Amino acid sequence: QVLQLEVDQIMKGGYEHYMQKEIHEQPEAITQSMRGRVKQQKSAEGNPYLQQRIKLGGLVETRDTIRRSRRIMFVACGTSYHAALAARQTVEEMVEVPVVLELASDLLDRCCPIFRDDTCVFVSQSGETADTLRALEYAKARGALCVGITNTVGSAISRATHCGIHQNAGYEIGVASTKAYTSQIICITMMALALAEDSISKRERRDAIIDELGALPDKMRSFMQVQDVAMKELAAQLKDSNSLLFFARGNNYATALEAALKCKEVALIHSEGILAGEMKHGPLALVDEHLPIVVVATRDSMYNKMESVIQQLLARSARLIILCTAGDATMQEYAKRSDCQLIEVPGTVEPLQPILNIVPLQLLAYHMTVLRGHNVDQPRNLAKSVTVT
Ligand code: G6P
Repeated sequence: QVLQLEVDQIMKGGYEHYMQKEIHEQPEAITQSMRGRVKQQKSAEGNPYLQQRIKLGGLVETRDTIRRSRRIMFVACGTSYHAALAARQTVEEMVEVPVVLELASDLLDRCCPIFRDDTCVFVSQSGETADTLRALEYAKARGALCVGITNTVGSAISRATHCGIHQNAGYEIGVASTKAYTSQIICITMMALALAEDSISKRERRDAIIDELGALPDKMRSFMQVQDVAMKELAAQLKDSNSLLFFARGNNYATALEAALKCKEVALIHSEGILAGEMKHGPLALVDEHLPIVVVATRDSMYNKMESVIQQLLARSARLIILCTAGDATMQEYAKRSDCQLIEVPGTVEPLQPILNIVPLQLLAYHMTVLRGHNVDQPRNLAKSVTVT
């Protein structure tokens, strides 16, 4: 037992918990996911329109089939589903094929129609989740092309799919998924970029995203320590809340859902991610001066709409915490005038912003869990890999 404790200590590499270690490992994990796959230098020779900057060995043979499919369906559970939600817009924009998302259990419950000309992408950290695996068998039996995105080489899902992408994010031990989430968004984004490689009209946008992919690990590193301290303080203020809401829209709806899931899973606080566009259809009734609400308002195409959400919430005396782009003077002004807190993150291109935005919220959930005295790495009633349906 003493030996086991020592092994645990070594594996945690100086951190108190696996979840903490895995949050801090994210810059490295996303680097690993991109290693050998994203080419940063634009070659000066040859036809600049036909540069291959994304290399995904696992999709070389099926790339054209995926591009020609009638729709792309992402199938997943839990955090992996949120990763697909965060990257959906990028796939739609790059590939211009209808994209649908399915929770694996619901797909099976509904006996969802799937056809031969569908591409189904199964996203699973463990590659062993029973519902996702059963949905894969279901889709395969209907003749769809099945693509796997998993973090576990040799897992059931990676073996049963026709082709796929390995995340290469390294082992994830904490039950609450953190580094696998950001790495999954990277993988789906790389897939979208690879599928758009021949498109001249998408070239500029693609290049801009690829350039930012290169800068992302350092951007993440740059604010990790500062946010760790800041989120510990915020956690102390929020830890006794009965409930927490996260408002966002666009691709950051995934950030809201994922942050709320972390608060539920590990901190054991009731929490909901709310699509801000739906605010007036119910959630607004919950708003008062006590309920803490985190609003995601980073500088992207949703910014103006989120600013109006902030104004409406402040008009109802809401207790706000605003997650915004570092140095955003407008948001700093709101914070000063209305005494709300800010969480500042570096800016990046819109498809990648959810990857940076989730980090402080993971840290917040982590610190609340520690302060509330709950088990961080093995929350009650939950398992890392759900292998029963
Ligand atoms: C469990 C884990 C979650 C995970 C989900 C899906 O619920 O606790 O962290 O997101 O399963 O797991 P998968 O391995 O398929 O990504």
